[in-house]
Amino acid sequence: MFTPYEIRKDFPILRREINGHPLIYFDNNATTLKPIQVINAVKKVYEEYYSNIHRGVHTLSIEATEMFEEALRKIAQFINASIEELIPVYNASHGLNLAALLLTINYLNEGDEVLVSVVEHHSNMLPWRVLSKIKKYKIKYVYPDEEGFITSEAVENMITSKTKVLTFTHVSNVTGAINDARKIIRVAKRNGLITVLDIAQSIPHMPIDIKDLEADFAAFSGHKMLGPAGTGGLYIKREFARDMEPVLSGGDTIIDVTLDDIKWADPPWRFHPGTPNIEGFIGLGAAVDYLKRLGLENVRIHEEALMKHTLDKVEEEGLNKYIEIMGTKDLKRRTGTFTFRSSKYSPNVIGAYLDMHGIAVRTGKHCAHPLHYYYGWNEGSVRASYYIYNTKEEIDKMINVLKKFFVSK
Ligand code: ALA
Repeated sequence: MFTPYEIRKDFPILRREINGHPLIYFDNNATTLKPIQVINAVKKVYEEYYSNIHRGVHTLSIEATEMFEEALRKIAQFINASIEELIPVYNASHGLNLAALLLTINYLNEGDEVLVSVVEHHSNMLPWRVLSKIKKYKIKYVYPDEEGFITSEAVENMITSKTKVLTFTHVSNVTGAINDARKIIRVAKRNGLITVLDIAQSIPHMPIDIKDLEADFAAFSGHKMLGPAGTGGLYIKREFARDMEPVLSGGDTIIDVTLDDIKWADPPWRFHPGTPNIEGFIGLGAAVDYLKRLGLENVRIHEEALMKHTLDKVEEEGLNKYIEIMGTKDLKRRTGTFTFRSSKYSPNVIGAYLDMHGIAVRTGKHCAHPLHYYYGWNEGSVRASYYIYNTKEEIDKMINVLKKFFVSK
């Protein structure tokens, strides 16, 4: 088991002060900080073997291709997938848009139904809404239970003979609720649905075995799991990937083109036109090495302890008189995401006060407006989201600052 104290030295940015206070970074659901191992991996690409991939017989290009493909293989293995099942994308939003586009063009028809959960980040709701207009299929919403979970029962109740696709998030970016994706997907599959899973908020925090979950499509971002921004993956199960025509095409997506014919490259290359973020994916490979060394089971244990500490402290310090916490109290079913509101002060005022004390949180509706409106949290919320380098002492400091804020007001 690791301790956050020993790994903090790997994160140079944690030496920063913000407004005269040591930085406390609690905005990890938005993006995580980067360890020196990732920074050095990217630097090494530029200094030693930067070149374009798949396009040259010269040594640098061959070296860059090998390093890029090795990183992609490692990232695929991290979720128990193979390289041909992992399309390099720029982030989860790009991956989810691409999944929606591929299914809309290749699979969905007028009159079909797509189930989308109300919990979704906009990136897994808006693409379907936009594209449904083109093919004239219908979006149907699956509502969460009181604690913010999507249940297999709620999904099953919505399925009709016209339902073709279910898309939902493994973990909510707002409440941290961990949905029982395996159970939900089983129900969907029993009813013949194709499933799309947003794993952006689960892959950094827990082991993911995509074969065990049985999702057909799954998308994530590299920047939320210690890697560089502009990296991510769209997993497409082999059977689908081999059958589908690309919707974005161009350089590197083909084996041959004549004016009459196109012979597409094998997946994943068929789905990724243009030069990828070469250095970024090599950096993400280093991030995967880093997380594997810590052990994702251990990451989960660490975050659960931080969340328990938070809930205990809120009660001990009497902060629950001033704030309402969103989501379940069941620590086994929630990531280290502490989301709350006050009936008196707007999330932005609270967030700005925390920032004055060096504490970075996210405020607003976190790209999940329908979820906030569904629960009547119309002004949004304050979200402190934890990761491997956060400590109980940092949480104590945040609780003290919040106490000072509410008591002095
Ligand atoms: N999706 C990111 C968040 O939840 C940006 O903050």
